[in-house]
Amino acid sequence: MLKQPSSLLLGTGAAIPPRTLTNADLEKIVDTDDQWIRDRTGMKVRHIADDDLLNSDLASEAALKALENAGVEADEIDTLIVATVTGDVTFPSTACYVQSKIGAVNAAAFDIQAACSGFLFGLTIGDSFIKSGKGKKILVIGSEILTRVVDWKDRSTCVLFGDAAGAAVLASGTHEEGGILGSFLKTDGRLAQLLWMPGGGTRYPAEVALVENLNNIKMKGQEVFKAAVTAMGDAATHIMEVANLSVEDVDLLIPHQANKRIIDATARRMKIAPEKVYLNVQEYGNTSAASIPVALDEVRRKGILKAGDTCVMVSFGGGFTWGSIALRV
Ligand code: ACO
Repeated sequence: MLKQPSSLLLGTGAAIPPRTLTNADLEKIVDTDDQWIRDRTGMKVRHIADDDLLNSDLASEAALKALENAGVEADEIDTLIVATVTGDVTFPSTACYVQSKIGAVNAAAFDIQAACSGFLFGLTIGDSFIKSGKGKKILVIGSEILTRVVDWKDRSTCVLFGDAAGAAVLASGTHEEGGILGSFLKTDGRLAQLLWMPGGGTRYPAEVALVENLNNIKMKGQEVFKAAVTAMGDAATHIMEVANLSVEDVDLLIPHQANKRIIDATARRMKIAPEKVYLNVQEYGNTSAASIPVALDEVRRKGILKAGDTCVMVSFGGGFTWGSIALRV
């Protein structure tokens, strides 16, 4: 009898810029305070890329670490996916630069854009490639330099974001070995303008965007907050049905690290014990597409997620986009 195919997680890696920006540092830039930021978001520090560091540099560092962790050579990768909203240039894709930097010469490389949900969208594409026989070894990267596109005069957004990259190597295996158990993705484009960066595309080209201050993130915080709580709660509960899991079967919830209050609400909806919820928002802020792969790498390296364990990853972001994946490692 043919064994059911599965996408196994072979390795992970992360790249974090060394420079940090604390809440106290932010107090010197905008009218804010440490207590407000900690109460509203749970954040204490975020990491910032130096001016000469490119998104593709961070992505490549995370990718090389993931390849090493997986025991896979770069030229074995057949598909390279970068999830980002802060690519090096408008085109070509950041994935092209990463391919060249790491020597993934046999990979078809492309970017996807699903904001903070990008990594889960990318993993789902990789999983589908493997299950359809189109790919065997797939590198999925979430990488962002958000601090270059925030408005440093807008205290309601500039305190929230940080820079990072995380990567995962998927390989074909069998269902009995574990791997991606199920995936759930959703989008509601009617709400696009609640969280967006208008400038730099063809609607508001760079010269217009500069004059009208459109070259940075615009957000209606309260609306985003409410939508995120509902959508992440839905995604977290729905994936357990998709993957036929009870909450007791889930060893760890790895939520997108947007905000501690959103994460707490998601955990309550899922009815999962607080000690099973991974939190690192205090250290990195919101790193959008990088947040879940960075967390996934941390929990593997710290031994919080061990071989045989099952985790649920859940995200929400601009678009709006949201989704979840259940994974047995
Ligand atoms: N420091 C101090 N005061 C601030 C700051 C700040 N950094 N930012 C806003 N305020 C003030 C506002 O000006 C307002 O003052 P006012 O009452 O005098 O007008 C007051 O705080 C309350 O503002 P609200 O916007 O109502 O604050 P809220 O409680 O909603 O918290 C926050 C704001 C943290 C942005 C919240 O709405 C939120 O977390 N939203 C989700 C945003 C998010 O996570 N976005 C990331 C992308 S999507 C994702 O990743 C899930």
